[in-house]
Amino acid sequence: MIDAMTMISSTVDLVLKNAKVFTFHGIITGGVAVDNGKIVKLSKEPEIFRADEVIDAKGFLLLPGLIDSHVHMRDLQLSYKEDFYTGSCAAAAGGITTVIDMPNTAPRTSSFKALREKKAEARNKIVVNVAFYAGFPSRLTEVKQLAKEGIVGFKMYPHDPSEEVDFENEEQVRLYFEAVAENNLPVSIHPDDLETIKKLQSELQQQKLSDIEIFLGSHPPTSERKAIVKYAELGIKAGCRLHFCHVSSMESLAAIKEEQSKGAKITCEATPHHLLLTEEEIKKHETFSKVLPPLRSQNDNTALWAGILDGTINILVSDHAPHSFSEKQKPFLEAPSGFPGLETMLPTMLTKVAYGDLRLEKLVELTSSSPAKIFKLENKGMLIEGYDADMVLVDVKEKWKIDPEKFYSKSKFSPFKDWKVVGKVRKTFIKGLCIISDGKIVVPKGVGSIINISH
Ligand code: NCD
Ligand code: ZN
Ligand code: ZN
Ligand code: ZN
Repeated sequence: MIDAMTMISSTVDLVLKNAKVFTFHGIITGGVAVDNGKIVKLSKEPEIFRADEVIDAKGFLLLPGLIDSHVHMRDLQLSYKEDFYTGSCAAAAGGITTVIDMPNTAPRTSSFKALREKKAEARNKIVVNVAFYAGFPSRLTEVKQLAKEGIVGFKMYPHDPSEEVDFENEEQVRLYFEAVAENNLPVSIHPDDLETIKKLQSELQQQKLSDIEIFLGSHPPTSERKAIVKYAELGIKAGCRLHFCHVSSMESLAAIKEEQSKGAKITCEATPHHLLLTEEEIKKHETFSKVLPPLRSQNDNTALWAGILDGTINILVSDHAPHSFSEKQKPFLEAPSGFPGLETMLPTMLTKVAYGDLRLEKLVELTSSSPAKIFKLENKGMLIEGYDADMVLVDVKEKWKIDPEKFYSKSKFSPFKDWKVVGKVRKTFIKGLCIISDGKIVVPKGVGSIINISH
């Protein structure tokens, strides 16, 4: 990459030495030299370079920064829940260097104008990299325009009546899928079925059930499965790549495998909360553990872990879904679903690695290399010479307790409150720039980049 002459004559921006550097060919004791935002050398002795800044990483583990492809940054009219600054600080604290922002905001990111507005708001606030999803626009012709604006794909919420497209109308959905496929993008889907939810809700409300039972009963795995099958079939017809979000049940994984065997081009994601928690948690934390899809059974947990091992689940995401404390204090059925996850994903998963339940290679694949490939984030997701120096330095031995009061997120609650975890973020870097060090943000707002995907 760099010849001996250049090495002697020039100074690089950063040398990080004495680390354990993660590569897919094994861990290297050494470090990286970074210049102009790129890893120019990964070796046992990066200190042979002269550098403007040298960091002695004394035995800490250097990983590619995480790419969280399911994040609700909320900004614009919902900024009381989260904004691009607090959300990106939370990402930095969680070792996440790139987030993909979801379009279910106010205004909804389903027009060229709304996307432009969001980017303008993000530009001066972010401290990590941000890429964007768009929602389906009301005019089919705007699909191409949004694609040209560099989105990673389209996101649809078939259970949300406020969406501009009627997702019950299969002919119309097929036209959108075809238009998205022509632009070589994927469609990500929140798999839920409006008809099923409505029918179950009205049935269950007639019975003497608790609010929690009504909520769980009206969002069963069958509703998730039904949506997966329905849209996968349409995806096959339209030749469109699909990505199913926060897959939570055994039935869903079986349906995905079945559709893949019929030729559907499908990827999917799972969250730490669906892997680690069950519906028992809802009794303890009530609305603070209310999320969609709901936390499910121990059997579903087991099936999801099997899906990780057999490769059916391609990526891990936080589904960071912040809400205000007062919204979460509402009665169970009125309280919004979701909780923050940016600051708990890496520590909870590193804990699984520490206990030998998850291989580090698998974790890095799920949180870095695989999302980079699926969403075509160029030069990201691996520590390789020539790639962006988006990195996280972790102390894999440090034991600590999750305290939501200390979150950068505006949402200071979590179902993982008081969890004892192993593995702590020491520093996070974007393009070689340290953005957080021992829990303290050390850069001004706006140092992050907006990522536009080119196709
Ligand atoms: C998300 C939100 O609040 O935007 N809530 C959730 O429970 N996961 C929406 C979503 O991801 O479906
Ligand atoms: Zn330089
Ligand atoms: Zn969702
Ligand atoms: Zn979400």
